[in-house]
Amino acid sequence: MKGEIFLEMRGIKKSFGSQVVLRGVDLDVYRGETLVLLGTSGGGKSVLMKHMVGLLQPDEGTVTLEGKLISNLSERELSWARRKISMMFQNGALFDSLTVGGNIAFPLREAGIKNPEEISKRVCGALEIVKLPGQEDKMPSDLSGGMRKRVALARAVVEKPCCVLYDEPHAGLDPITGDSIDHLIKDLANDHGITNVIVTHEIRSMFRIADRVVFMKEGLVYWQGTPAELKASKDPVLVNFIEGRSEDSDL
Ligand SMILES: Nc1ncnc2c1ncn2[C@@H]1O[C@H](COP(=O)(O)OP(=O)(O)OP(=O)(O)O)[C@@H](O)[C@H]1O
Ligand SMILES: [Mg+2]
Repeated sequence: MKGEIFLEMRGIKKSFGSQVVLRGVDLDVYRGETLVLLGTSGGGKSVLMKHMVGLLQPDEGTVTLEGKLISNLSERELSWARRKISMMFQNGALFDSLTVGGNIAFPLREAGIKNPEEISKRVCGALEIVKLPGQEDKMPSDLSGGMRKRVALARAVVEKPCCVLYDEPHAGLDPITGDSIDHLIKDLANDHGITNVIVTHEIRSMFRIADRVVFMKEGLVYWQGTPAELKASKDPVLVNFIEGRSEDSDL
């Protein structure tokens, strides 16, 4: 599924000290697509994702959102991009001192919504989307890992963004809960037209949800295509990754 480019990254380079993480990444995200980012651990997927919403700035290269350059904006100017794109962080990153409801309401308050009735209606709606109705008053510490993920997901979608970035939404979940996360992601795309970008190591989920796959290796886009093209690929790097084999494996 191609069409209008929503987000365009060109020549993104990023180092931390002497460690080069991104070596010149070119990547397009099309409006309404579900794009899955694959790659080895430590390869720079989370770093790349943070560039998509201006949480990190590139050393070189540009990020353009709906035709507007966001890779040179100040924090204040970036609020425009943050309203369009929300991110579900790898570790969930819930505020432990806030209730579930308080966590989900946070982006609404940040956006200047003050009416308590509207806030509680939208929090309630977001909890319904993630199949956790009525859990507003629980504390994050009282939730299971899967529930925390889903609260983080509710917080990411409560402001009705155009695009949601998910950093490993399946990690640490049982297959059934992982499956329900896949359904949520697909529903957001199909029912709400949300553009999804997902970093995951769950190959099964990738085949179920992705319209397109980007495979990163050593700080560059190594391969991109559809899940069917990935399945058909004979490239040993891709085959080993999909089958979960290390290069020296003889198991
Ligand atoms: N803020 C930072 N400061 C210094 N180094 C960082 C920072 N963020 C990331 N790195 C380094 O950049 C490299 C890539 O990290 P990143 O988190 O993007 O990997 P990843 O592909 O998401 O891996 P995983 O699949 O394990 O989540 C790592 O070596 C990491 O230590
Ligand atoms: Mg990561």
